[in-house]
This record gives sequence, structure tokens and C-alpha cells, in this order.
Amino acid sequence: MVLFPDVQARARAEINQVVKHDIIPSIDDRASLPYLDAVLFEVLRWHTPTPLGIAHATSQDDVYDGYFIPKGALVMVNQWALSRDEETFPDASRFDPGRHLTIDGQLKDNIVNHFVFGHGRRICPGRWFAENAVWTAMATILSIVRIDYARGPDGHEIKIKEEYTAGLSIRPKPFQCSFESVSAEREGQLRAVTSFG
Ligand code: HEM
Repeated sequence: MVLFPDVQARARAEINQVVKHDIIPSIDDRASLPYLDAVLFEVLRWHTPTPLGIAHATSQDDVYDGYFIPKGALVMVNQWALSRDEETFPDASRFDPGRHLTIDGQLKDNIVNHFVFGHGRRICPGRWFAENAVWTAMATILSIVRIDYARGPDGHEIKIKEEYTAGLSIRPKPFQCSFESVSAEREGQLRAVTSFG
């Protein structure tokens, strides 16, 4: 959100258009906030959390697309390559939630269950829970605070290096940023239900 302030502003504007200004969005609002969903799907695609999926093994000899795969072979799905497939995602390295929307701003049909959560019988059973949990966090945070660059003592923006951890599951490396409340009413509600109020 620091790197893409226009995306952040559009997501917040959508929230403020649909949800009353003194109410924190709830999961019931999800269907009415297609742009926020598009941001969620793009976050999961852009630096997909499990770039090589979860390892599997073949329980018997198999042939796939002309390739012989012996019993016991380790099989991993290259989700990173899928995330960068230019046919499905033109200009794939660009963070662009709009790619998941139709021309009239609705979510495209074929998004749910996309590759981020794996494939076939062993597809992630937690995907609905995961999506709803991340969506709720995003909606809450964006409805209450503006996220921006942190500033050093001289008032200058502290740049962010776009760096990720390596491994089976990846996430951004720690970085500094700032949070500014944009809704005293919603902030008050959040503080009332959390212990840090
Ligand atoms: C953004 C969050 C998440 C991502 C990106 C994710 C991704 C994945 C992926 C790629 C797999 C492997 C699927 C395959 O082998 O084809 C998987 C499996 C699995 N996930 Fe998730 N997951 C997430 C959250 C969750 C949550 C919240 C739960 C539980 C509540 C969960 C439970 C599981 C379980 C139990 C499996 C193993 C399924 C099996 O092998 O039969 N995941 N997940």
C-alpha cells in the first residue's frame, strides 16, 4: 500500500462509498467491494505466498503430457511461473488489481480458486477462511488508517526496498512505514474492542 498509493486511495474510496463512515466494514460488505477483492487477489498473485506450492509425490508411475513420472517422484507446482504467465496476466510483474476486474468494475468470473491455493484434490482447504481473514484485515486497516512512507528526522521519506524472504513460504522483509488515522469514529471503535485502546 505504501508503494501503490493510488490503489490504496481507490480501495479506501470504495469502502467509504459503500460503508457508512462511522462503521468498520464487515465480511457482509465483501460482495459490494469488488475493487478491494481485486486488491486481495492481486496481492496473492503478485508475490504468491507459496511460490513452489507444497511438495507432493506420485503414488504410482504416471504419464503427464508425454512425460513419464516414476512412482515416488517429488512433484512441485511452480506457482511462481503461473503468477508470471504473460498470457493469463499481461505485464505480469506489474501490481495491477484492475486486471481482475471487468470493464464495468466487477470481478471477473474465473478468479475464485485460482492457482495461489494449489490444485486438484489437495487444494488448500483453508482458502475461504484465509481469504476472508485477509480481506477483513485489509478492510479494517484501510478504512481507518492511511499507510505511507515513514519519515526520517530530516522529514525525508525513508525509501522501501522491495525485498522478500526466500523459502517455501515468502513474505516481505520488514520495512518502515507510517500510519495516519483517517477516521476518528472507526479508530474509536477499533480501540474499544482491542486491548491496546
Ligand atoms: C493466504 C493463505 C494461504 C495460502 C496461500 C495457502 C496455500 C496453500 C497451498 C498452495 C497448499 C497446497 C495445495 C496443493 O498441494 O495443491 C495448501 C494446503 C493446505 N492448506 Fe493452505 N494456504 C493458506 C491458508 C490456509 C489456512 C488459513 C488453512 C487452515 C485454516 C490452511 C490449511 C491447509 C491445509 C490443511 C493444507 C493441506 C491440504 C492437503 O494436503 O490435503 N491453509 N495451502
